[in-house]
Amino acid sequence: MEQLFQGQVALVTGGGKGIGLGIAQALAKRGARVALTGRHQATLDNAVESLHGRGTSFIMDVRDPASVEAGVRATIAWGGRLDILVNNAGIGLLRTPLSDTTLEAWRDVIDTNLTGSFVVTKAAWPHLTASKGQVMNVSSISGTQGFPGASAYCASKFGLSGFTEVLKREGAELGVRALALCPGPIATDIWGDWATEEEVARMITIDQLGEIAVAMLGAPRNIDLSSLVVTNAVSPWST
Ligand SMILES: NC(=O)c1ccc[n+]([C@@H]2O[C@H](COP(=O)([O-])OP(=O)(O)OC[C@H]3O[C@@H](n4cnc5c(N)ncnc54)[C@H](OP(=O)(O)O)[C@@H]3O)[C@@H](O)[C@H]2O)c1
Repeated sequence: MEQLFQGQVALVTGGGKGIGLGIAQALAKRGARVALTGRHQATLDNAVESLHGRGTSFIMDVRDPASVEAGVRATIAWGGRLDILVNNAGIGLLRTPLSDTTLEAWRDVIDTNLTGSFVVTKAAWPHLTASKGQVMNVSSISGTQGFPGASAYCASKFGLSGFTEVLKREGAELGVRALALCPGPIATDIWGDWATEEEVARMITIDQLGEIAVAMLGAPRNIDLSSLVVTNAVSPWST
């Protein structure tokens, strides 16, 4: 396999499982060294094992700026540089109409999915400008259209898509590329009680999405791939 990312160091937030792990594995397969971050050490340890010696992990809660600073510092101490930041850590709040959406739940979703991505990007920015690197924000199809029952989630992802648009322009002047990956339904734990096992089994897999993410990150810089919606050809809810 072509070692497209040989010599490069990536940081993937929420990389211990799900989409973050799929992207981390696809990057590591192509030569990147990858730091995974999240809140649960056991999950991270298992994930690092799947990176065949090309990974490490650090505890980092994206809602806590001090934890983020420490995680980015640890990544630089380990890797010596930072070429790719994947802002992937996120939580869902689906099938919850506005009347049932509490302020606490709203804040949790915005703090994690949107403010968390801002805090991590700000901490990583000097290192990304030094390497003329890339930031990929894992937004969502919910960052491009509204879905009933997902007011907080859609607001967080529309915000993240908007943040990416600005990073794209500010980054262009500094040699940093910003990308928004906007997946439709992907088979991960995020679905919890909101989808049945059969529905989840019909969703796009994390391996498939990881391949698309590395195609975006590996694309020549003259190609504008700033925002890509990746969704099922046939809805997992159609039988
Ligand atoms: N699955 C889908 O259908 C889908 C579609 C579009 C977009 N997305 C987006 O993809 C991203 C990953 O979701 P997923 O589907 O892979 O879900 P997942 O399997 O539940 O993974 C979520 C990841 O985020 C981490 N995380 C959550 N809160 C965190 C915090 N405060 N600090 C640090 N890490 C935190 C979790 O790690 P810990 O709990 O161990 O900290 C976990 O690694 C999210 O941004 C989600 O919105 C998912």
